[in-house]
Amino acid sequence: MSVNIFLVALALVGLAQGASFGQDTRIRYDNHSVYKVRFETKDQRDWLRKLAEDRDNFKLWHEAKDEIHLMVSPGALDDFQKEVLKANVTADIFIKNVQELINTEKAENFMAARDGSFGWSKYNTLDEIYAWLDEILAAYPVITEGFVLGQSYENRTIRGIKISYKSGNPGVFIESNIHAREWITSATATWLINEFLTSTDDFVRELAESHDWYIIPVLNVDGFVYTHEKDRMWRKTRQPSDISTCVGVDPNRNYDSHWMENGGASENPCAEDYGGPAPFSEPEIQAMANYVSANKEKFNVLIAFHSYSQLLLSPYGHTSEEFPPNFEDQMEVAKAYADAVESLPYGTVYRYGSSAGILYPASGATIDWAYNEQDIEITYTIEFRDTGRYGFILPPTHIVPNAEEALIGIAALLDKCEELGYLELKTL
Ligand code: ARG
Ligand code: ZN
Repeated sequence: MSVNIFLVALALVGLAQGASFGQDTRIRYDNHSVYKVRFETKDQRDWLRKLAEDRDNFKLWHEAKDEIHLMVSPGALDDFQKEVLKANVTADIFIKNVQELINTEKAENFMAARDGSFGWSKYNTLDEIYAWLDEILAAYPVITEGFVLGQSYENRTIRGIKISYKSGNPGVFIESNIHAREWITSATATWLINEFLTSTDDFVRELAESHDWYIIPVLNVDGFVYTHEKDRMWRKTRQPSDISTCVGVDPNRNYDSHWMENGGASENPCAEDYGGPAPFSEPEIQAMANYVSANKEKFNVLIAFHSYSQLLLSPYGHTSEEFPPNFEDQMEVAKAYADAVESLPYGTVYRYGSSAGILYPASGATIDWAYNEQDIEITYTIEFRDTGRYGFILPPTHIVPNAEEALIGIAALLDKCEELGYLELKTL
C-alpha cells in the first residue's frame, strides 16, 4: 500500500517536472526566459529579427510596432545582454522560466483529464478533439455536417464542421489553430461549437441559429500534434525544406496574396515567419484555399483565431501605406467586438487596427488572401488572451473566460456587420 502511494507521489512529481516514465523525448525549456524588447529604429528591429532567426538560442514569440518578445536560452543570456547594451534597446523580463509554465500546464491538464471526459478545463489533443467531433456530429445529425478540408503533409485529415439551423443564413467561416502552439484557439473554437449546439441561453440561441457556421478547429494538424508530443513551442507546419535542415513554413505567410512582399515574411527557412519556397507550398494552406474559393459566395465573414496579444487585426497585412476601401466599416466592426468584451467583468481590453498598421507588415496571411482574392469583405485575425504574462501557455482556467469573450465579441461584431449591410446573401 505504502509502495503504491509512493508510486503515485512519484508519478505526480514526474509529471510536475514534465517527465513521464519511459522515454520522454519532449523538448525542454528549462530556464528559457522571455523578454520584451522595445526598439525605436528599423536597424534595431532588423537586428532583433536577425537574432530571432537563430532558432536555437533566440526564438520569436511576438512582434509589434515597437516591441518584440524573444525567448532566450540560458546559455545565450550573456550574449543577449551584451547585444542589448550594444543596440541600445531596453529589455524587460516577463517570463522567467518557460519550462515551469509548461509543467504547470501539464499538471493542470493531468488533473482535469482524470475524469476522462472531453471538456474545457484542459487542453485537448487532436485525437480527443476529433473523437468529440464525431460524437457531436452523431448527436446533431440534422443541424451539423462534417466536412474534410484536405490532408496535411503528414497525411492527417483536416476536418471542419458546418452548423446550420435553417436555410438563408449568412455564413461565418472560422479558422483556428493555424499556428500550432496557440492552443487557446482550438479550445475556444470547440467551446463555441458546443455552445451553438447546447446552450439554452436566448442570446446564444439567436446567434447560433441566425448564421451558418463553418469551423475548422485545428488547421495546422501536424504542427498541433507536434506541440503535444514533442515541442510545446512549435508554430509552423511540419514539411521539411529542400534547402535547409530547418523544418516547416509559417502557414499564415503562405497564401498567394502579396506573398513575400515588403518584407512581410522571411526567406530564411529557420525563421518563425518563413513564407515557404512558393505560395501554397503547404498542403494545409492549399486545402484551405481550395475550400474557401470553391464556397466563397457562402461566406460573409471570415475570422482567424490566434494568440496572444488581445488584438483585432484587419487587412491589409502587406502595407501600412494604404488602407482597404471599407476600412472605416472594419474599424466600427472591431470596436463593437472590443466594447462587448469590455462589458464582461473580466477587464480584458482588445485593441484593433489594420495588421500592418498596428503590428508590422505580414503578407500571405489567411485574412488578407480572403479579403484581397476572395471578396470576403469582413475578415479578421483575433489574437486572444493574454498580453504576455503567460503568452502561448495560457492556463486552462482561462479557456472558458476567453471563449465567453469570443462569443460576446463575435455576436457584437456580427450585429454591426448586419447593420452595415455585410450579411446580405451573395448571389451565386
Ligand atoms: N500574429 C499573427 C501572425 O504573425 C497575426 C498576423 C496578422 N497579420 C496579417 N497580415 N493578417 O501571423
Ligand atoms: Zn498566430
